[in-house]
Amino acid sequence: MSQLQVAQVQDIPSLPPLQAARTTGDSIFPALGQLGLDVLNYDLTLTVARPGTSELRGEVTLTLTATQPLAQIQLDFFGPTVSAVRWNGRPVVFRSDIAAQKLLVVPPAPLLPGVEATLTVSYAGAPGIVRDPDFSYPLELGWQSVPGDEASAGATRAGANFTLSEPNGTHTFLPSNDHPSDKATFTTRITVPAGFTGAASGVQVSQTELEGGFQTFVFRQAQPIPTYALAIHVNQFERVESPAVPVGVGGSPVQRRDYFPVGTAQPTREAYARTAEMLRVLSGWFGPYPFEAYGVAVVTPQLPALETATLSTMPVTSSREPVALHELAHQWFGNAITPADWSDVWLNEGFATYAELLWAEAQGQDGQAIAARWMDTLNRRGTRPLVARTPEQLFDTSAYQRGALALHALRVAVGDDRFRAFLQAYTARYSGGTVRTADLLALAQTQVGPEGEAALKLWIESPALPALPILP
Ligand code: TRP
Ligand code: ZN
Repeated sequence: MSQLQVAQVQDIPSLPPLQAARTTGDSIFPALGQLGLDVLNYDLTLTVARPGTSELRGEVTLTLTATQPLAQIQLDFFGPTVSAVRWNGRPVVFRSDIAAQKLLVVPPAPLLPGVEATLTVSYAGAPGIVRDPDFSYPLELGWQSVPGDEASAGATRAGANFTLSEPNGTHTFLPSNDHPSDKATFTTRITVPAGFTGAASGVQVSQTELEGGFQTFVFRQAQPIPTYALAIHVNQFERVESPAVPVGVGGSPVQRRDYFPVGTAQPTREAYARTAEMLRVLSGWFGPYPFEAYGVAVVTPQLPALETATLSTMPVTSSREPVALHELAHQWFGNAITPADWSDVWLNEGFATYAELLWAEAQGQDGQAIAARWMDTLNRRGTRPLVARTPEQLFDTSAYQRGALALHALRVAVGDDRFRAFLQAYTARYSGGTVRTADLLALAQTQVGPEGEAALKLWIESPALPALPILP
């Protein structure tokens, strides 16, 4: 199922064998990524000429470097047909291995550590289908296409497209090193027909009208994020701006914008009315908000919500305050601090779930009662140590509720002040980077001492469910 395409072979004196390079060796998804490849930035240009269909045209320039000499580059990619690949602007040999979901590229000379190069891929066609490996959601990851329709009342709903990729769907629409250990910055340029709005992770830097009834929206995500967290949306949106909230790094203003499909009902919008207050409460616990903007893009299909960077993707059916709060918390835990291996994803879900308890307490509710309900759920459904061993465990009850209770146990062991200091030490140390469970434990050891570390360790490692820790 793979085809060899050769462009400008005369530029290449001898063609190295196109053997598979080593992957990142993820413990859950061993096929993803390339070991030693470091993508610094993706500059992505997407044209969505017919929103709501799967027709996609793209060109992406990756700025690359390496941590070991690489004779070939092996990107994850599955879907649209590649028409051209350039290395530092010049055509190079490439091969699409569809069965392996890889795009193999042979640079004129090996990429060496400390050297930067650009790799440009032009492609068009329909994105591939990656089924969610977590079988509790029967959904297809990556580029989503929502056909337009005509409701009986005569109202029309526009076609829409958006990304929904965690854990491994981004390579259905973007040639990428599709593994969270390789975070990168993004420039995203989206061209859509007049009347449609493009939106993406980061801050909008321009909106330009083109000839022929198209518009281009450009966004810059200047802090590195994992590939799965890249948001792209196309719809007939109302873009609602709200006052900036001064909870960014050094008290800098965090831009606020939300995207609601035209005709979004008021109760849906109300789930997002308290975002500024949520930013204040969560930054009080976690330290500065790590990006330049925050808001949501609402989508109409019934799907789970996803914490896409700076712009959470919120289905109408998940437009409730605790879900909104959970996705906001993931901006610190998941998007700014990212697990280096998928087995450590409880570091995302446990922290985001615990944030729901912290927010409920800030509203005068009883946090201990919430913790008790999590215990009941775990006792009913069973539990496991927190580091996941199978794809089905990634987003299970243990990742969420037991992960959250691990933090509750730490808080009960050390008290609120030291717990807060620990959370802020963790974000200060790891924001912008990646983390493993062992890093969290090592930080506990130095920040809150042996009792704190022991409490966390018990909740992370014990095969049985430990006893419910009780707040004083
Ligand atoms: N991270 C999401 C949350 O808890 C859950 C999730 C995992 C998800 N994979 C997904 C949502 C894929 C949508 C699509 O907030
Ligand atoms: Zn979550």
